[in-house]
Amino acid sequence: MNLILLGMPGAGKGTQAEIIQREQGIANISTGAMMREISRAETDLGKKVQEYLSTGRLVPDEIIIQMLVERIHQSDCENGFLLDGFPRNLDQAKALDQAKVEINLILFLKISEKEIIERMSGRRVHLPSGRSYHIAHNPPKIEGKDDVTGETLIQREDNHPDVIKKRLNVYYDETEPLLSFYRQKDISFYEIDASRTLEEVSEDIRNVISN
Ligand code: AP5
Repeated sequence: MNLILLGMPGAGKGTQAEIIQREQGIANISTGAMMREISRAETDLGKKVQEYLSTGRLVPDEIIIQMLVERIHQSDCENGFLLDGFPRNLDQAKALDQAKVEINLILFLKISEKEIIERMSGRRVHLPSGRSYHIAHNPPKIEGKDDVTGETLIQREDNHPDVIKKRLNVYYDETEPLLSFYRQKDISFYEIDASRTLEEVSEDIRNVISN
């Protein structure tokens, strides 16, 4: 099974992606995590990507598309994969079609802007693994520490209010049109009410996948 998670920044895509990966045994591909890793390298590419991340803009398609298509062809994707954060605009979606990447399921995590702000402000992340927590809704076992490695959790730099606003605008302008693009295709499309608890959202996703 190859699936795409769509939704506003902070809707809970990364959180649910981790659970789906664990339960379904498929590869979890987050282009956001890939970009954050690249941005940490002291290279020209790293510095360029960092500029986009810190200002909430999309990394240019010429950087991201080829990288993503190559990633999908790695051996851990043979049993299936989920895409968290890709495609992000119509050209990226068309690039998947051109590369003949088969997609079986689209899950759209629907949530309001108000909820997003609350979620983002309480988010803490373990950057090397991409594991995401929330100080109230999904706290780590030990405050401020990653459950698996015990390393310190941080706030993502694109969590600042002005950058969140920019990311939301980019979402409306570039990513939201993907909803009608995929609704018109012959691919199963499910809208999930992502405003509920983490467990309720997971349960819904589990039901959709098992049907
Ligand atoms: P990316 O990392 O993809 O960020 P995003 O889509 O903006 O989404 P987030 O990671 O912020 O949120 P999420 O939906 O994963 O929510 P989470 O699970 O953390 O992209 C970052 C940047 O990379 C982009 O701005 C762009 O520059 C670049 N980029 C990435 N892909 C690209 C592409 N394809 N093309 C070009 N550029 C690209 O949850 C949020 C919080 O809520 C957490 O604290 C979590 O614990 C909590 N939470 C989750 N679910 C619940 C729940 N049900 N109830 C209560 N709290 C919950």
